[in-house]
Amino acid sequence: MKLLLLSLGLILICAHTEGTHYGWKRKFDPRKYSGEWYAILLASDQKEKIEENGTFRVFVEYIRVLKNSSIVYKFHRIKKGECSEILLVSNKTEKDGVYKDIYDGHNIFKVLETDYCNYIIFYLINENNGNTFQLMQLYGQAPDMSSELKKKFVKFCKKYGIVKEDISDLTTVGKSSSWLSPPESCPQ
Ligand SMILES: *[C@@H]1O[C@H](CO)[C@@H](O)[C@H](O)[C@H]1NC(C)=O
Ligand SMILES: *[C@@H]1O[C@H](CO)[C@@H](O)[C@H](O)[C@H]1NC(C)=O
Ligand SMILES: *[C@@H]1O[C@H](CO)[C@@H](O)[C@H](O)[C@H]1NC(C)=O
Repeated sequence: MKLLLLSLGLILICAHTEGTHYGWKRKFDPRKYSGEWYAILLASDQKEKIEENGTFRVFVEYIRVLKNSSIVYKFHRIKKGECSEILLVSNKTEKDGVYKDIYDGHNIFKVLETDYCNYIIFYLINENNGNTFQLMQLYGQAPDMSSELKKKFVKFCKKYGIVKEDISDLTTVGKSSSWLSPPESCPQ
């Protein structure tokens, strides 16, 4: 387990040295972005994870920071037309601003950029039985956001090798396909 996290840590270090944007180097205070959020864009280099029925096609509801510095994420997921809730606890790691949790494998993630008010961009690496993939998420304070912020996210994705075709717009999900729209028990 330790070895696994170490190797994932190394991947993050590599991403770090490759990235030039200041956002990757900065430490963000989770207390400042805890609250309610909307899932806006979702991207992955393993697209089936974020497509219909994919385990990472998740819609964030809120983020809370616990006293012990772990972070709780509440998501919902639409699986075979049914809504299920996911409550995930992520512990911090030895690395500044880097968190880990277990969901469909081992996840390690951090915030690439946020203004604490309008948007957050998350970068996650999933490891499961020796396979890894990258996932990026854009959260907003409202059900939709400006095209400037969306473009910023697309740029980040490009930097990590995720192409435009592998970005999913979650703001249009409810409109495009009726069975996909969340039931009333699931806000958004
Ligand atoms: C922090 O508290 C939560 C809730 O009790 C728990 O699930 C989590 O494992 C704790 N984190 C650590 C690092 O102990
Ligand atoms: C998702 O699951 C539903 C219900 O089982 C099925 O009808 C649908 O075709 C699945 N979608 C994909 C992309 O596999
Ligand atoms: C978080 O920390 C708690 C307490 O040390 C531990 O029981 C739990 O397994 C940890 N969770 C993860 C995902 O590492």
